Amino acid sequence: MAVKQKVLLLGATGETGASILNGLQESRNFDVEVLARPASADKPSVQKLREQGLTIWPVDLDDFNGLVSAMTGTDIFISAIGPNDLLQQKKLLQAAKIAGVKRVIPCAFTTVAAPTGAMLLRDEKEEVYNAIKYLGIPYTVIDVGYWYQISFPTLPSGKVDYAQIAPVKTIHGDGAAPNILTDLRDIGRYVARIILDDRTINRYVYTAGDVLSENEIYQIAEEVSGEKLEPSRVSNEDIEASVKQAKAALAESPHDNMKRIGVFVAQYEHSKYVRVDNSPRYADYLGYLNARELYPDFQPTSFRDFFAEVLAGKGRKVYS
Ligand SMILES: NC(=O)c1ccc[n+]([C@@H]2O[C@H](COP(=O)([O-])OP(=O)(O)OC[C@H]3O[C@@H](n4cnc5c(N)ncnc54)[C@H](OP(=O)(O)O)[C@@H]3O)[C@@H](O)[C@H]2O)c1
Repeated sequence: MAVKQKVLLLGATGETGASILNGLQESRNFDVEVLARPASADKPSVQKLREQGLTIWPVDLDDFNGLVSAMTGTDIFISAIGPNDLLQQKKLLQAAKIAGVKRVIPCAFTTVAAPTGAMLLRDEKEEVYNAIKYLGIPYTVIDVGYWYQISFPTLPSGKVDYAQIAPVKTIHGDGAAPNILTDLRDIGRYVARIILDDRTINRYVYTAGDVLSENEIYQIAEEVSGEKLEPSRVSNEDIEASVKQAKAALAESPHDNMKRIGVFVAQYEHSKYVRVDNSPRYADYLGYLNARELYPDFQPTSFRDFFAEVLAGKGRKVYS
């Protein structure tokens, strides 16, 4: 049997991090350890990981020596840090370099988008990628499109409300923009393949369970549920106005995380539906590798199967 790769995972208690942890554990090719902030070390979510036998490193990102100790012997460092803490990752990189980490997977795990200027979220992620490139550490950027879990429409019967963090009742523009989508649960399974693959070193890769327009998503929801959906329409002009409004609100309160989230959400819509960034065509243009082509044997969950599961009451509301 091949020697297991040692992975240090940051963000294991989050949505993306939990999927990655599951995927790595399922693959049996990795010894996983977890980096957690000391303030969270006694949280039930971290305690649960300890009970599974995982080594937890309670190290603050300002503790350089602590980070070097945690990273020494690590083959692959993966970050699944939350969207409001992305720039904190820059504090980790020098430690990763000194510790000789063989590959860093910075927190991407989002939609395909223009490297700068289209989304604040992507701008901050790219700042981290550039800091990695400055240090010359081998890396892989893994994007996943939009999660199925936040892409399915609300039904008139209310049957899928239990699994939604917010109602989904609109179609943007003409509804025809193709969107890369991945089931959150498949992210970790993809990551387990991508990080063992030399072809993905110093490359950007995107995963997809399905590529669907909003029109197609609503059609699938109607076919699977037998219900008639009547989404409202949002014009491109309205999306542009929402971005302006959200940016103005953030400019007034630059340290308000809710205002940042407001910008993220408005810019996601602009990037996905007006610019059509989150599409295989734009991903190809940016030079991404397509994980579906790299791993033709990988069977991701289809959106249709996912939605049928949710309709059958087997879904889960994210962030609950
Ligand atoms: N593709 C999509 O549709 C989609 C949807 C949502 C998010 N995302 C992307 O996925 C990425 C991860 O987001 P998420 O929503 O999965 O995260 P999340 O559930 O909010 O979890 C964030 C994780 O980061 C940890 N963390 C935050 N700050 C930290 C620090 N200073 N030191 C150590 N750990 C820290 C948190 O630990 P604690 O337990 O200590 O809080 C938690 O484990 C984001 O960057 C976002 O862009 C993509």
